[in-house]
Amino acid sequence: MRRIAIAVVASTMSLSLAGCGMLGASENSSSATPTRSNDITVGVLMPEQTNTRYAEFDYPIIKKKVAELTEDKGRTDYANADGDSKTQNTQMQKMIDDKVDVILLDAVDSKEIAAMVQKAKDADIPVIAYDRLAQGPIDGYVSFDNELVGEVQGRTLVEAITNVQASDKIVMVNGSPTDPNAAQFKAGALSELNGRVTVAKSYDTDKWSPDVAQAEMSKAIEALGVSNIAGVYSANDAMAGGIIKALKAAGVSDSELPPITGQDAELAAVQRIISGEQFMSVYKPYPGEAEAAAEAAVAKVQGRDIQFDALTRDKVDSPTNKNIPAKLVPVVALTKDNIKSTVIADGIYKVSDICTPKFKAACQALKLL
Ligand code: GAL
Repeated sequence: MRRIAIAVVASTMSLSLAGCGMLGASENSSSATPTRSNDITVGVLMPEQTNTRYAEFDYPIIKKKVAELTEDKGRTDYANADGDSKTQNTQMQKMIDDKVDVILLDAVDSKEIAAMVQKAKDADIPVIAYDRLAQGPIDGYVSFDNELVGEVQGRTLVEAITNVQASDKIVMVNGSPTDPNAAQFKAGALSELNGRVTVAKSYDTDKWSPDVAQAEMSKAIEALGVSNIAGVYSANDAMAGGIIKALKAAGVSDSELPPITGQDAELAAVQRIISGEQFMSVYKPYPGEAEAAAEAAVAKVQGRDIQFDALTRDKVDSPTNKNIPAKLVPVVALTKDNIKSTVIADGIYKVSDICTPKFKAACQALKLL
C-alpha cells in the first residue's frame, strides 16, 4: 500500500529526477558515534537472474556503498534465489545462522518469506525490504514508487496509440503474482488505461518468465487476431522481449509492431527502443535505490537512528504491518527521445554499449553517434 508524503506531478517525460536524498543534509556516516564498529556484514538477498538489474546494478552498487560507509571494513554476503522461493528461504536461514548483522531482502514471495523475517527478528537481525515489500516484522522498506511506475507505463502506452479510442484492444502481461510490486504496477497502469482503451486480455506471469510471457502473448494473438491488438502493456523489459518474439512468430514485421511497454531500462530493451521494436521502458535510477538501502542498513546496524529516520520518511503498510518506514525513489519513462539524458547521463550505459554495429544506423538517426 502506497502512502507517501511526496506530491509527485508525474508527467511521463518531464518528471525530474530529484536528487535521491540520502542522509540528513548536515550529517554523514562518519560524524555519528556508531554503537557498532564498521566491521559489519550486510546480507543481500536478490530474487532472480532472468532480469539483469540485480546482478548488473543493484548488488554491485550496494556492495560498493557498504564499503564506502564502513571505511572498507563492511562486507556483503550475496545470494540470488533464481526465482525460487524455497531457495530464498534456505539462503535467508543460512544468513541468520551465519549471524549477519542486517539483511536487505528482495523477496521472491513476499508472503511466504514472512516466517523467515520473524526468525531474523528473533535473532536480533534487522530486515530491510529492498525493492519489493515483504510481509512480517521488517524494519524498513526501500524501493521505487511502484504505482508511479505503472502510471508512467499506462500513460505512455495510451499516448503511443495513434488516434486512440476506448474500443482499442490492448493486452496486459503483468508480473509475478507473488511479487507485490506487480500488483502495484498493474494498479498504476490500470488507473491510466481504464476508460481510455479496452484491456482485452490480461495475464499474471509466473516468476516474471519471458518464456511464459511469450506463450501468454501467443494465446492473446490467437484469441484476438494480431491485427486487432492496438498495444501491449508489458510490466518489464525481459517479458517485452518474449512478447516481441510471439508477435514476430505471428508474422508481424518490425515496422508493424504495436507500441509495447517495459521497465528496468535493460540494455537489450534500450536497443529495442532505438530500433523501434519496443516503445518505452521505465528508467529506475538504481543508484538512488541501492545506495539508500545500503545507507539504511549500515545506519540501522550502527544504531544511528537519526540517519535511518532521515532516510525513511515515507510510510507504507504491508498486509501484516503498518507505518513501515520507507524511502520511495521517483522514476521516469524512457523512450528514444531521452536516452541521452537518462541512462547515458547517469553512466548506466556508455554509447558504445548501446550503439553496437547492429544499431549504428538507428543510433545515428537519433544523433547518439
Ligand atoms: C520487480 C522489480 C522490477 C521488475 C521485476 C522483475 O519487483 O521492481 O524492476 O524487473 O521485479 O525482476
